[in-house]
Amino acid sequence: MSFGDYQIELYLGALGGVLPAHPFDYDELERNALAALSPELRTYIAGGAGNEATQRANVAAFERYALVPRMLRASAERDLSVELFGRRLASPLLMAPVGVIGLCTPDQHGDVHAAEASAATGVPLIGSTLMSDPLEEVAAATGDTPAWFQLYTPKNRDLAASLVHRAEKAGYEAIVVTLDTWVPGWRPRDLASGNFPQLRGKALANYTSDPVFAEMTGPDPDPGTVVMTWVGTFGHPVTWEDLSWLRSLTDLPLVLKGICHPDDARRALDEGVDGIYCSNHGGRQANGGGAALDWLPDVVAAVDDRAPVVFDSGVRTGADVVKALALGATAVAVGRPYAYALALGGVAGAVHHLRSLQAETDLIMAVDGYPTLADLTADCLRRL
Ligand SMILES: Cc1cc2nc3c(=O)[nH]c(=O)nc-3n(C[C@H](O)[C@H](O)[C@H](O)COP(=O)(O)O)c2cc1C
Repeated sequence: MSFGDYQIELYLGALGGVLPAHPFDYDELERNALAALSPELRTYIAGGAGNEATQRANVAAFERYALVPRMLRASAERDLSVELFGRRLASPLLMAPVGVIGLCTPDQHGDVHAAEASAATGVPLIGSTLMSDPLEEVAAATGDTPAWFQLYTPKNRDLAASLVHRAEKAGYEAIVVTLDTWVPGWRPRDLASGNFPQLRGKALANYTSDPVFAEMTGPDPDPGTVVMTWVGTFGHPVTWEDLSWLRSLTDLPLVLKGICHPDDARRALDEGVDGIYCSNHGGRQANGGGAALDWLPDVVAAVDDRAPVVFDSGVRTGADVVKALALGATAVAVGRPYAYALALGGVAGAVHHLRSLQAETDLIMAVDGYPTLADLTADCLRRL
């Protein structure tokens, strides 16, 4: 059984009179999901920083690389598996942390539903700090699939420690510290509509369920107190000086998200970090930068096989996954696409989307003669 066999399942289903219920094409997925979402979520998910040039560059960068087909090395068996922090994953895909995923389903339990999609596909979920259900309930829905917890480091260090320790206890297997979002980026679409879900008390379940946060608000806080307490503590501007403290909070693998410069990657590893996550937050934080994909090769070279390198920003198709792997990513995370798939089709929609990505990745590797991840190197690509 290979991931590509999903297409057989779909064709057989069609022979039996059942056509696929969910889109395959990314543009169609995005268009239909945006039409289905409320205006606030639409701008929050689709929008980015500034005039969104960086966001567009993330996607366009993939088109500047071409995969070169190699023949006479066809293999009926492909191996897409990868070992990450002691766990063998069947495919090198992850679900990136998406802070409003909880709001993407009508019942407002989208975090739990994303976890259910993770359980069904084996694609690990990186659960955001900004959840609509407590992280414990989300972890409980991930089944046998490992999950990671993404930390937005609060100013209150006891709260940071509490969140990390809760994540450990709940069974998350790595802590991902996001470095590029201690202050929100300049997002014109959200500014124009005065739209910032957390200021309306959304996606704060990990705070309102936390004993340290409860001490900060006092008992039975009104919604305004919750939001203002959150505003007061949300974003600690993390520096190198904080790293040993963050490291001391947990024995779990520590991954830094937002690393785009080789010097930052090298120093992070020297200072005891276990994984590097190359990302520009999908162009949501700082406009005027290049595509995250363009930073990946130098980051990979600096890491020099000392640690896994996770990549996201602009991944839309299986071909994109293959290209990021060929440029040296150990695993590739998908962001907006699974949020749209969940919003449009619920758990089944997200499962279809993730299985489609796995299938397309697998079939490209099959057709192009790269049967294992080890075969995917920079030699597979030509820069156009
Ligand atoms: C609506 C939305 C919410 C996000 N929330 C978070 C978050 O809570 N934590 C985080 O580290 N990254 C967050 N991200 C960034 C993603 O993890 C990822 O870096 C980004 O989506 C990649 O870009 P792409 O979706 O365009 O491929 C968010 C992205 C989106 C679209």
